[in-house]
Amino acid sequence: MPLLVAGEGGQSLAQKLAHLTHWPVVGAEFKTFPDGEEYAKIQGGVKGQDVVVLQTTYPPSRLWKLLLLLSAARENGASTIRCVVPYLAYARQDRVFLEGEALSARLVADSIRQYATDCVTVDLHKDDVRKFFGGVCQNLSAAEPFAKEFKAKGIEVVLAPDAGALDRAKDVAGRIGARFDHLEKKRVSSDIVEMRPKALDVAGKKVAILDDIISTGGTMAKATEQLVAQKAVGVVCAGVHGLFMADAVTKLKKAGAAEILASDTIDSPYSRVSVAELIAHALTVTSAARTRW
Ligand code: R5P
Repeated sequence: MPLLVAGEGGQSLAQKLAHLTHWPVVGAEFKTFPDGEEYAKIQGGVKGQDVVVLQTTYPPSRLWKLLLLLSAARENGASTIRCVVPYLAYARQDRVFLEGEALSARLVADSIRQYATDCVTVDLHKDDVRKFFGGVCQNLSAAEPFAKEFKAKGIEVVLAPDAGALDRAKDVAGRIGARFDHLEKKRVSSDIVEMRPKALDVAGKKVAILDDIISTGGTMAKATEQLVAQKAVGVVCAGVHGLFMADAVTKLKKAGAAEILASDTIDSPYSRVSVAELIAHALTVTSAARTRW
């Protein structure tokens, strides 16, 4: 029976996974040395065990903690190592856009592959990032748990903040018989977005805006302002990965959000949609196929 190693910030998801799979779970200990270097230790023996390391990577410093845990599993004799990274940091830089840039998505995938036989993650910014893992990455879609939540809330329209996020909105809307559409976002800089006006048939309708990430909240806030101006009711701002940087939540409330929602890929007070069942299923149906490193 595999052993789950729960890294930093993922205890509640680890407990849900342990409950669903009946696998034992152990924690991890981290320390920071005076010079800023990190130390990690798995709290329990892993020798001869099939180990599943669970570590989300927000804030991005947790990426290093993930690698340390993978090293701890390997150096202490784990038989096999798999990893679950519910939110994969650095995936947005998935190609060299400008000459001279680093390709962080490949670097992260390469680093993980040095230690783990496979990686399970949720709603990558672009599914294409999987190619850097050479076929051993499952990118799970959180569409079903969000669809369930939207259905329970009586959502009638699911909106993507831009055309790039439309497939996700369409998928979720299709599962609950809601309408879908997208807004027209233009990113001016990493923390400033513009939203071109677009007439939508949302007056009097319960609307959810769904994106992969809520970071500064700028995208959602602009989208919410448009919907409120067009008399949508009870606007739900939903992001699969809720980073909620700085004053993101205040921004969303000020824009008129009736509710803020995220999944438990990252713990936050808004993480009410769980991806645990998806991950448990992904881990259990593929466990037999894993090879030893
Ligand atoms: C970007 O392409 C992503 O899909 C999100 O729209 C973006 O990360 C949201 O960022 P923010 O909350 O800072 O507007």
